[in-house]
Amino acid sequence: MTQSNEPLEWQGKSVLITGGAGFIGSHLAGLLVDAGADVTVFDTFASGSRENVAAINDRISLQERDIRELDWEAYLSENHVDVLFHLAANAYVPPSVESPSFDYELNFAPVFRLLEALRKLKWQGRMVFASTAAVYGNSVRIPISEEDLTVPISPYGVGKLAAERYLAVFANLYGLKMASLRFFSAFGPRQRKQVVFDLLAKLSADREKIFIHGDGTQVRDFLYVEDAARSAMIVAGQGALTGEVYNVGSGKEYTIAQLAKSLCKLTGLDPTFDYSGTNRPGDPEKLVVDISRLRSIGYEPQVDFEQGLANTIAWYQEQTGETWK
Ligand SMILES: NC(=O)c1ccc[n+]([C@@H]2O[C@H](COP(=O)([O-])OP(=O)(O)OC[C@H]3O[C@@H](n4cnc5c(N)ncnc54)[C@H](O)[C@@H]3O)[C@@H](O)[C@H]2O)c1
Repeated sequence: MTQSNEPLEWQGKSVLITGGAGFIGSHLAGLLVDAGADVTVFDTFASGSRENVAAINDRISLQERDIRELDWEAYLSENHVDVLFHLAANAYVPPSVESPSFDYELNFAPVFRLLEALRKLKWQGRMVFASTAAVYGNSVRIPISEEDLTVPISPYGVGKLAAERYLAVFANLYGLKMASLRFFSAFGPRQRKQVVFDLLAKLSADREKIFIHGDGTQVRDFLYVEDAARSAMIVAGQGALTGEVYNVGSGKEYTIAQLAKSLCKLTGLDPTFDYSGTNRPGDPEKLVVDISRLRSIGYEPQVDFEQGLANTIAWYQEQTGETWK
């Protein structure tokens, strides 16, 4: 059981989100603005965009800043920040495999420099770092808990793990209030890759037949993006912040076939399913997440699976002009 604190009152709090124009970051910025926080976003728009935060543009301070070049010590001495969410990163495995040094410079080195600045400043704020399920590598048990082995198999996974380990050591040694979130795959509006988006794109390309990797029985946890964002607020607001890590998932199991069927039902399509029969290399048959630690500090996913899919379909149609149903 993880210790929890009194919930934080967000009204009037000064919050900085790096990567706040990205997929998860933009939803987090939206929730924080609605909760009355004073939100600043740093982003280079490398994978995020101004469009992602267009709806809240006049309610946030959006700054084009590169985390690789920031002087954190100077910035945080001059600017009061109550809560810092560090999400800016290369968020995917393949670029880290193609260029480990790019991933290191973006995902690890800036976190280390940030931690050093916090240590030197004896910073009193709260910091939440976006880590990943990729820290577990293939060493997955069912369900995966935070106590399980971490044996990353990609530069992306090992960079995030190194960052969260440094964060834990700095939290303990220097009394900084910080924690890491191990996000499992999130889905929702503004995400232009991964399985939900890919299946929608396939349904757009061909309404009669849909190709699916494997035999459809692969089990996954589908985390709706707003719940992912909410989890970050709950950890910052009421987590112990002693360097601990939290799995973030929906805590529910669905198969890929169930996902595809739900998408068909919601779009009103009835294609034949063309299964490849074998999983892609490295794709586990079952990925189930134990989120009891996060639940113990007050998190409960709020958006059910079908509602999350319906929201994603509505966004997809708006973006592409696709006319289903
Ligand atoms: N989406 C998921 O399912 C998932 C799963 C595991 C971990 N994560 C982690 O969560 C975080 C957010 O992921 P996301 O899915 O929103 O990805 P994303 O790519 O949409 O967000 C990352 C943001 O960081 C910005 N960025 C990139 N380089 C930058 C730089 N040098 N300086 C400032 N900003 C920069 C990008 O423009 C983007 O807006 C990442 O740290 C990612 O590793 C996400």
